Amino acid sequence: MLVLGIESSCDETAVAIIKTPKTVLADIVASQNELHAPFGGVVPEIASRRHMENIVPLLNAALKKAGCTIDDIGGIAVTRAPGLIGALLVGVSFAKALSYAKQKPLIGINHLEGHLNAAHLEYDDISYPHIGLVVSGGHTSLYLVKEFGNYKLLGATRDDAAGEAFDKVAKLLGLGYPGGPAIDKIAPSGDPKSFKFARPKLNRGSRFEISELDFSFSGIKTEVMLKIKKMGGSLSKNDIINIAASFQYTVVDIISNQILKACVKYSCFDCVVSGGVAANSLLRKSLAKVCSENKLRLFLPSLSYCTDNASMIAFVGAKRLEAGLSDNFGIKACANEEIGVI
Ligand code: KG4
Ligand code: ZN
Repeated sequence: MLVLGIESSCDETAVAIIKTPKTVLADIVASQNELHAPFGGVVPEIASRRHMENIVPLLNAALKKAGCTIDDIGGIAVTRAPGLIGALLVGVSFAKALSYAKQKPLIGINHLEGHLNAAHLEYDDISYPHIGLVVSGGHTSLYLVKEFGNYKLLGATRDDAAGEAFDKVAKLLGLGYPGGPAIDKIAPSGDPKSFKFARPKLNRGSRFEISELDFSFSGIKTEVMLKIKKMGGSLSKNDIINIAASFQYTVVDIISNQILKACVKYSCFDCVVSGGVAANSLLRKSLAKVCSENKLRLFLPSLSYCTDNASMIAFVGAKRLEAGLSDNFGIKACANEEIGVI
């Protein structure tokens, strides 16, 4: 079966076509980074309008790339939640219209579940249960993945997501948007030990069962801001590079430690990390080291499957559609929706 995936939860319009179980025939992403860069972050109304302009040309390009027509498509999977509501509505409304007009089954997918399963597109031997981390611009959520579709949230950020912290610190350093790739690019030239940032203390007050598996990044961001202030506001190129390197080092260290803690606690040997921040080169290196030292198997998607894409949505949708599941036109876009909260 050919499954069409549609993703429009934030500032990337993405369309993919996969042949089940997971051969990617087309995977097209239209990034809006340039559009939002002057504002230092995503402007929701601009994102929605650009999704509207992009979605039909992207579908046509994906069909062309895959060498098929819409009539060959067996089902449509669309990101339904979480994300910017106006942006989600574009994808969901378009998918519903297409489903109605062409009489194709429709399935709504949670974006986090897409990220959690993205690694399956490239790996065949991920075992269950495993530890899964989604580390993106909107989320830093750690899961026990018991099997496909069965997730338990173990911990999450109590404030900023890791990607959000990258973006905000990059803004403070005048590095532009999106901040993650900008910091990733300059950090290797800096000294990661030149500035010391405190690790968050997370002993009490969790929303979740295991507070020690939560994250917090807003304190580090505030520390960066205070350090910049203390240095008089104007930074040398060297200061910028060193702060970027030290910030990245601290965040990577926190994430690597939490994953290791979760693997030990739940006796898991496999861990899967995805979401935009999983594209970070130091994080990839650090995770590889921690996992090899502790005899864990690490599964990291390629960079284009770490950041937002529609193949991961098509993949999750295909599994559901092949199991005989589908949604009716009552499905709604939803801005906030965690998975795995029991
Ligand atoms: O998964 P994603 O594409 O969208 C969301 O679902 O949020 O993640 C986007 C986030 C942004 O905050 C961006 O700065 C961050 O991922 N990011 C990175 C890197 N590439 C993207 N952060 C650190 N290093 C990178 N190389
Ligand atoms: Zn995402």
